Amino acid sequence: MIEKEKIITDVYNALQKKVAYEDIIIEQPKERSMGDLAIPCFGFAKILKKAPQQIASEIKENLKGDYHSVVIAGGYLNFFLKRAGITEKVLAEAHHDGYGQLSFGGGKTIVIDYSAPNIAKPFSVGHLRSTVIGNALRNICQKCGYQVVGINHLGDWGTQFGKLIAAYKKWGDEEKIRKNPIDELTALYVRFHQEEQNDEKLSDEGRYYFRQLELGNEECVNLWRWFREESLKEFMKTYQLLGIDNFDTYDGEAFYNDKMQKVIEELDDKNILTNSEGAKVVTFDQLPPALIEKQDGATLYITRDLATAFYRKKTYDFAEALYVVGNEQQLHFQQLKAIIKKMGYNFADDIFHVNFGMILQDGKKMSTRHGKTVKLHDVLEEAIEKVSSYTNDYELKRKVGIGAVIFNDLKHYRTNDVEFNLDDILRFEGETGPYVQYTYARIQSLLKNKKEMSITMENIVINDLIWYLVFKVYNFSNIIEKAKNDYDPSQVAKYVLTLTQDFNKWYAEERIMEGDENYIQFKLLVCEAVGSVIKESLSLLGVEAPKKM
Ligand code: ARG
Repeated sequence: MIEKEKIITDVYNALQKKVAYEDIIIEQPKERSMGDLAIPCFGFAKILKKAPQQIASEIKENLKGDYHSVVIAGGYLNFFLKRAGITEKVLAEAHHDGYGQLSFGGGKTIVIDYSAPNIAKPFSVGHLRSTVIGNALRNICQKCGYQVVGINHLGDWGTQFGKLIAAYKKWGDEEKIRKNPIDELTALYVRFHQEEQNDEKLSDEGRYYFRQLELGNEECVNLWRWFREESLKEFMKTYQLLGIDNFDTYDGEAFYNDKMQKVIEELDDKNILTNSEGAKVVTFDQLPPALIEKQDGATLYITRDLATAFYRKKTYDFAEALYVVGNEQQLHFQQLKAIIKKMGYNFADDIFHVNFGMILQDGKKMSTRHGKTVKLHDVLEEAIEKVSSYTNDYELKRKVGIGAVIFNDLKHYRTNDVEFNLDDILRFEGETGPYVQYTYARIQSLLKNKKEMSITMENIVINDLIWYLVFKVYNFSNIIEKAKNDYDPSQVAKYVLTLTQDFNKWYAEERIMEGDENYIQFKLLVCEAVGSVIKESLSLLGVEAPKKM
């Protein structure tokens, strides 16, 4: 926002540059009635050896610049901006596509690893969070001028595939798997796991087949490939429902099978590996040890992630690499970064674990009545179904149902747990997706009254409610920038919620279609600006905005 920079420069000059430019902070006052922007003077007290209030009044005396008014409030200097100029600018710009676009990313690359469900297991609600947070971050980073590579790092490798192959060879039924891949494969895996408890030979067999898979045994590889294809086909149905299927690659853990040896050798050469009863381990001062290679030569999740990180650095030369993965993998990513650091690579500092909390139902981890994992696809279909009392148009139902689920997830700060209650999520009132979507549709219907005429701002009084809306629209790109820097889509969700609430307050208090034609058309321009920013915000979150509801 240029106003912010102007104010900082004016304050800097008024203080005769006695404090550093970077030390002048600008905020929004807690109460809107107290001013549009505020400069806290507390931080200057030490340097200038004066009380904050005194400093505020001195700044005010020496201040040059064109403000509506400047008010001292405690140790703050509060600025009221001239409304007309900013309003005119906002109304001229906000309805253009791409409003709020930033360029500070400078075309640098950010790699985002998100979603990443596990083959032969259900795509669960647990993976919903990674999918929607990652997708939103992708949009937000692009909006900031970054090049984004979106990677679906499928969980398609590991000892469990050895077990699955062993189980299939014992009890598998090809036909059944084709019909219902995930359920059948899960059942095979569960049965194997149960019988394994009483039969050690089975565990050996599982390990044997995973080793065979790692060595490229043709039969094993073919089975594995088939399980993967069938699973992915089923996952795609969920992605299509969500409207999130624009990954740049689905290369998951298996892709790194032939890229791990090199990393292990480098670790060895750099004397980072310790031998522990035949297994290879990295130890740390501050963290528990990380197992890199088992006695039988089998690799682990972290081994694959090491190879992945190097591959990504080499392939994409990323400025930042984000991993959108749950809180429970905190240690894994700490170890991953620490190992890369130990190897002497500074890009370890550009790796960020974008962690998140769980989805809970009545305070507990979500599961079916039989204690099984809840499939995301079922939940999404239920959400769509529940919208049905209100319309029969399937696409509309999908947009509202899915939008509600996504919005509910993203409005919470990611590291917190999210309570999931479909009835609450789908309400048209309160802090929900449908509430925001509905407001957008209401605005679109109002805009039918818009005429192609130029308006004059001369006699228009910009009242508080209108000004708050305009100023919020003006602030849009600042919100995006902060959301990027904190990897926090909830800032965009909260922003669009308050914008929507402010709009509805105005709509309840002032009749849009009353007054002289110039004023009506002016108000419709305000509606249009608010509407486009609602739509743009929703689209950053991955939520669609139907024109009619
Ligand atoms: N498939 C893993 C899981 O479900 C998440 C993978 C995240 N990405 C990564 N590079 N480790 O827990």
